[in-house]
Amino acid sequence: MSLLRAVRRLADVSQVVEPKYTDGGAVLLDGNQLRDSTVLRLRERLDRAGSPSVCLATVLVGDDAPSRVYVNMKHRKATEAGMVSRGVELSASATQQEVEQAVAQLVADQEVHGILVQLPLPDHLDAEPVLALLPPEKDVDGLTDRSLGRLVRGLPGHAPCTPLGVMRLIDAYGIETVGKRAVVIGRSTLVGLPQMLLLGRKGCDATVTLAHSRTSDLIDVCQAADIIVAAAGQAGMITREHVRPGATVIDVGVSRSESGIVGDVIFDEVQEVAGAITPMPGGTGPMTIACLLENTVSAAAMLGVTSLSGS
Ligand code: GUN
Repeated sequence: MSLLRAVRRLADVSQVVEPKYTDGGAVLLDGNQLRDSTVLRLRERLDRAGSPSVCLATVLVGDDAPSRVYVNMKHRKATEAGMVSRGVELSASATQQEVEQAVAQLVADQEVHGILVQLPLPDHLDAEPVLALLPPEKDVDGLTDRSLGRLVRGLPGHAPCTPLGVMRLIDAYGIETVGKRAVVIGRSTLVGLPQMLLLGRKGCDATVTLAHSRTSDLIDVCQAADIIVAAAGQAGMITREHVRPGATVIDVGVSRSESGIVGDVIFDEVQEVAGAITPMPGGTGPMTIACLLENTVSAAAMLGVTSLSGS
């Protein structure tokens, strides 16, 4: 898309983000910038509410280095937003019972509003009974069966942070969704399935296709789309061939390669045809954290921090 078309497309964008463009003229969907403005907005909301204590607790089991980096970043951003954060750490040899006990304690603690159990857990542990302990109000990751059930039924609860972050990017950059065709590639419970629901629900109103590893005509399916959300975790699977000129391309894939973290989208070639595109890193990753904090403030409101209700 030409720069002029990109600018026209952004004409009605709210003041939330400062638009930037790729060399090929696509709007850069800058997750770092939107995360920072979200953190600031949450901080202002908490200030206005009289700075109530809003607490995010994380549970980290084992010593997976990337997991530790993610958790540390969540704590740092929670502090910047004016929240309290608590980190529970268990050794790689923790038993199922020890992990469940740690989570149960946080569930019972009235000072704690949101709980995040960093996944994956070490191989000898079963995540399901751990997650099952989380009540929907405190499940700020939105990934238990009760939270996902609430999302399907349209009941109050928390949507999973990564697909919610994608929706926030779409919204902040004024990407049109009503009556548009969206393709979600990948059917994970953490991203693909909730993403499909969020894009298709009333108010967003996209016509959503769910593609996956067995989709035989992926190029044709993607070529018909106004919005592509790539969440298959298959490095570089989306090329310029998949993208209709002017389409929005959002990369959620994370694969580790020799050259570092890579996404599902070949950014350099796709940005030449896309109308808007997320960078990798700096696109959907930071928005996952922003939405975790957003969900934690909602959790505090749900749990009766009265100064936050309605603010
Ligand atoms: N590990 C990688 N991403 C996530 C996430 O969004 N939530 C949790 N709980 N664990 C993760």
